[in-house]
Amino acid sequence: MNVVILAAGQGKRMHSDRPKVLQALAGKPLLEHVLDSARALQPARICVVIGHGGEQVRAALDAPDICWVTQAPQLGTGHAVLQVVPQLDPALPTLVLYGDVPLTRVATLRRLLTEARGSALALLTAQLDNPHGYGRIVRSEGNIRRIVEEKDADDAERAIREINTGILVAPTDSLARWLPKLGKHNAQGEYYLTDIVALAVADSLPVRSAQPEDAWETEGVNSMAQLAALERIHQRAQAEKLLALGVRLADPARLDVRGELVCGRDVFIDIDCVFEGRVELADGVEIGPHCVLKNSTVGPGSRIAAFSHIDSAVIGAACVIGPYARLRPGATLGAEVHIGNFVEVKNSRIADHSKANHLAYLGDATIGQRVNIGAGTITCNYDGANKHRTVIEDDAFIGSDTQLVAPVTVGRGATLGAGTTLTRDAPPEQLTVSRAKQLSVADWKRPIKLKK
Ligand code: UD1
Ligand code: MG
Repeated sequence: MNVVILAAGQGKRMHSDRPKVLQALAGKPLLEHVLDSARALQPARICVVIGHGGEQVRAALDAPDICWVTQAPQLGTGHAVLQVVPQLDPALPTLVLYGDVPLTRVATLRRLLTEARGSALALLTAQLDNPHGYGRIVRSEGNIRRIVEEKDADDAERAIREINTGILVAPTDSLARWLPKLGKHNAQGEYYLTDIVALAVADSLPVRSAQPEDAWETEGVNSMAQLAALERIHQRAQAEKLLALGVRLADPARLDVRGELVCGRDVFIDIDCVFEGRVELADGVEIGPHCVLKNSTVGPGSRIAAFSHIDSAVIGAACVIGPYARLRPGATLGAEVHIGNFVEVKNSRIADHSKANHLAYLGDATIGQRVNIGAGTITCNYDGANKHRTVIEDDAFIGSDTQLVAPVTVGRGATLGAGTTLTRDAPPEQLTVSRAKQLSVADWKRPIKLKK
């Protein structure tokens, strides 16, 4: 099939400078949700009709499989589809989607395509308790005869509760014949795509319909309130999926997945966690409250305590992270590693059983096994121009408040005394300390305030 996505509208009611279809739902632009659904159907072509903010939309989402068509001025949905007809394969049916309707299930679109059977017109319709604002489906003897827009409808038509979602499948050769015939003698003075229904009936072409499983699949975004409402619906649906797979959630209403979250068995996620990009949690992982995890993997049995921030990190098995830990891109932890409060790790490997439990910065470091990093340790990895590596070999003990001025190596089994500023390599097995010798002054008198 061909896919046409209508995305030229302005979205005035958003009160935002950003084009409406670039507003994010679950961390992804609305239009990208629609493009992903379209791609899942493996269409021959995807054409996107742009207008308001068109260049910005194109720049944000351009890809080799998209044909962008500009509609200027915007004279209605029928006019919008007419602009792309020359780009479509006339031998294949055309599926019309809206760039601001992000959550339609691919299975629903497949059902609609099945209804069209290549040659009929098929409309995705829905029964709504409150159909206000939508085009109504006018049937006689059960057959669809036409669509009437809210603003053009009489009282009897307004009472109809079956509405046009706007999503449809049409034979492309028929579309090419119908669209130039559309008039704009209606309440809005626009070329209505919906008028093709009456033209199909006049051509004795069958008009069929399919319905979505859930009403929210066809809800569009016209305001920030609707965007927020759809976000909650989407997040709830994702939480239900996780629960169904056996993930224990402290509160399914307080979880946000902005990407893909893959969980093993017996995973527990406490309240108010945000997952971005692709995150994998292995069997038995526990995530404490208020954590943010992005593009990371967490090994089996690891625990991440409250308020931790994990970005592009790989965490091994049975690690204990946080509370208040920060793992930045390139943090790679082995098994049973402990990273405690206010410890920041960036672009560093930390091997099995090593610990940095309090207040440290470990950047551009390679740390061996069973290393203990004392509180207040800092790798001075940046000299103001270049970054350098720190290597700490197995079984080293780094005393508190140590600065490791990179490039520098701490040998296997070495001990650094507290307060050391290490500027040269520390040999294995020895104590290295750089610290002024301690002295006590026996006859020292504390200054006293002078009397005026
Ligand atoms: C349309 C339908 C209505 C349906 C409703 C569902 C028509 C005439 N009416 O009405 O039956 O119930 O959607 O939400 O089609 N667009 C363009 N170019 C234009 C006009 C619109 O690309 O010139 C795009 C918009 O960006 C939007 C979509 O088409 O994504 C729908 O446009 P909108 O103005 O929201 O149509 P409605 O009046 O809501
Ligand atoms: Mg609309």
